[in-house]
Amino acid sequence: MRRKVTVVGAGNVGANVAQKIAAKELADVVLVDVVDGVPQGKGLDMLESAPVEGYDVRIVGTNGYDETANSDIVVITAGFPRKPGMSRDDLLLANYEVVKSATEQAAKQSPNAILILVTNPLDAMCWTAMKVSGFKRERVIGMAGVLDTARFRTFIAEELNVSFENVTAMVLGGHGDTMVPLVRLTSVSGIPLAELADQATIDRLVQRTRDGGAEIVKYLKTGSAYYAPAASTVEMVESILKDKKKVLPCAVRLEGEYGITGLFVGVPVKLGKDGVEKIYQIKLDDGEKAALQKSADAVHELVTVLQQKTQ
Ligand code: APR
Repeated sequence: MRRKVTVVGAGNVGANVAQKIAAKELADVVLVDVVDGVPQGKGLDMLESAPVEGYDVRIVGTNGYDETANSDIVVITAGFPRKPGMSRDDLLLANYEVVKSATEQAAKQSPNAILILVTNPLDAMCWTAMKVSGFKRERVIGMAGVLDTARFRTFIAEELNVSFENVTAMVLGGHGDTMVPLVRLTSVSGIPLAELADQATIDRLVQRTRDGGAEIVKYLKTGSAYYAPAASTVEMVESILKDKKKVLPCAVRLEGEYGITGLFVGVPVKLGKDGVEKIYQIKLDDGEKAALQKSADAVHELVTVLQQKTQ
């Protein structure tokens, strides 16, 4: 049976997600955007590379949701990037409206879909999508930890001049300044990072990971990262569609795990055909616990703003 993935938002992240899904022949893709012509044009352009690339999937772009019906997965990347003069709250509320409307329409057409959120501020947008869709927490998942972990792995591999593939790491917490790279559980082919690099080096790599998104924005000036975010999203899509059961750090709604309730926070989960199939509660030391709680507090602050302004 053919699988279908809807990607809402045909901008930098969305178009790259669509293209990577097609290139891996994971599913047919429906690309949705509010701008007339853009999803249609990008969708057709991608389709026209099928004979050259050799993939047999259908890709269609649209401004509506009819064609998204019965999607297995809906990836939401729609939203505004932050502009000069905008406060964090302004971005939060603008993207709340976008994610709310996208979720409402997509969930209506695909009531059994798994939602993957990419729009920022990520953890608050996951909260929005869950509230609007009424879906169970197993089917509302945020992409952040895979990207933050990929950045950490990249910086470690470069620093040590080893294969990127050999570096295993786990970054927990919210997608922001308060993310929690777990150095204790980071290794190169099983060798703990602490045996390969001194503390000052590790601290520098951790800080670069925290600032990973900002580093790209500084270069691009008019937008944020999209190649690594798209690749990270597609790793999640693939694990679900192929029921690979990969263990990945994703934003999920915690209900008591790690002492946190009612908030989306990045933790290790198993991703398979049913979405989040298990939440791993790993033992954290006191410093890690405090850092995760601080991260949850930052997420709580944004959700409180949403609750107050959207009543
Ligand atoms: N419905 C559908 N698409 C929308 C809507 C909406 N209501 N509102 C805006 N869009 C579309 C825009 O038209 C644009 O094509 O979302 C797209 C966003 O694309 P970009 O501006 O290129 O932003 P991008 O870099 O893709 O980032 C999107 O992902 O990583 C996050 O922080 C990032 O929140 C941002 C999101």
